[in-house]
Amino acid sequence: MASHNLVFCLILISSLLVIISEGQSTVPVVPGLSYSFYYSSCPELEIIVRSHLWEVFNNDITQAAGLLRLHFHDCFVQGCDGSVLLDGSTSGPSEQDAPPNLTLRSAAFTIIDDLRALVHGACGSIVSCADIVALAARESVFLPNGPYYSIPLGRRDSVNFATRPVTLANLPPPTFNTTSLINAFAAKNLTTTDLVALSGGHTIGRGHCTSFADRLYPTQDPTMDQTFVKNLKLTCPTNTTNNSTNLDIRSPNLFDNKYYVDLMNRQGLFTSDQDLYTDSRTRNIVLDFSINQNLFFEKFVEGMLKMGQLGVLTGTQGEIRTNCSARNGNNVDLASVVGEHQEQEMLSQY
Ligand code: HEM
Repeated sequence: MASHNLVFCLILISSLLVIISEGQSTVPVVPGLSYSFYYSSCPELEIIVRSHLWEVFNNDITQAAGLLRLHFHDCFVQGCDGSVLLDGSTSGPSEQDAPPNLTLRSAAFTIIDDLRALVHGACGSIVSCADIVALAARESVFLPNGPYYSIPLGRRDSVNFATRPVTLANLPPPTFNTTSLINAFAAKNLTTTDLVALSGGHTIGRGHCTSFADRLYPTQDPTMDQTFVKNLKLTCPTNTTNNSTNLDIRSPNLFDNKYYVDLMNRQGLFTSDQDLYTDSRTRNIVLDFSINQNLFFEKFVEGMLKMGQLGVLTGTQGEIRTNCSARNGNNVDLASVVGEHQEQEMLSQY
């Protein structure tokens, strides 16, 4: 109990220091969201989230990566509305069942459920699952030594999830080149700098062989460093091996700018990473971030604030789920019917 209180005090002090030291960004706040949304209704919200994640990450820091990716996958599909958390219904698969989401960590969903229970236990069912995912992502950047940033809150949870083709169409696959990535991000009003900065999320976490084996077999991607290839082939002896490896070979558990140093050394894991250094439109941004971590942090925070407000539900839209994996009323069919042809088309890209 005494050690628990000590952790709580340390977190409280760190939170106060953060509040004193950080200014707020110039990224506009979407109407309906606010930096002070829960100040009076749930003042302990951010402390609860941070102290729980502090304990989780003390046991296993790699969980931070799973939570950061969860927020990205939530926001890019139908907006940051917690739709990625919903389980499928009897008549159709959920977003979670779509190929890009199959490699989301199951532990990330459990951690969000645990946070929801803690927060609702303290404040009642007034904080959305979408806000909890956004706060967990922020801590997943800050606690592994990344930048701190305040986030606007007040997101509401959706009552439905996206279909499989919509999910596939909105999450860029690792085989995308820079042109396709720029277009995918522009469709979300995100700039080329946002793309390069947010790709820096790959400074933590892991990828499975199936996400990059096309660069090894049958022929090797010529842009890759030879020693890097040799080691990846040891991890993935065939193109169907079910192993995984770090995204950032230099400092996989630290949120820093080494991902960009990897790219300059031709050690980016996915085509979507490495092509940012090959393409002349993004190469200088990679270079700038590789030599200036503060600049990377500044641009990453801007990108996260924009991404974190995509397509949010506010006010009386949606609901506050009492269970993050199911809408409050369970008698309505969640799934929608999709064309088989459209689905196959999307699948072939991923
Ligand atoms: C630019 C387009 C992006 C593509 C194509 C992409 C693709 C991927 C892929 C294929 C994986 C590995 C999946 C697996 O094999 O297990 C992955 C992991 C990851 N991605 Fe991305 N991603 C992109 C953008 C982002 C963004 C914007 C963020 C967050 C800001 C992010 C954060 C992560 C993290 C933290 C992991 C590691 C997850 C873990 O260890 O569980 N990614 N990404």
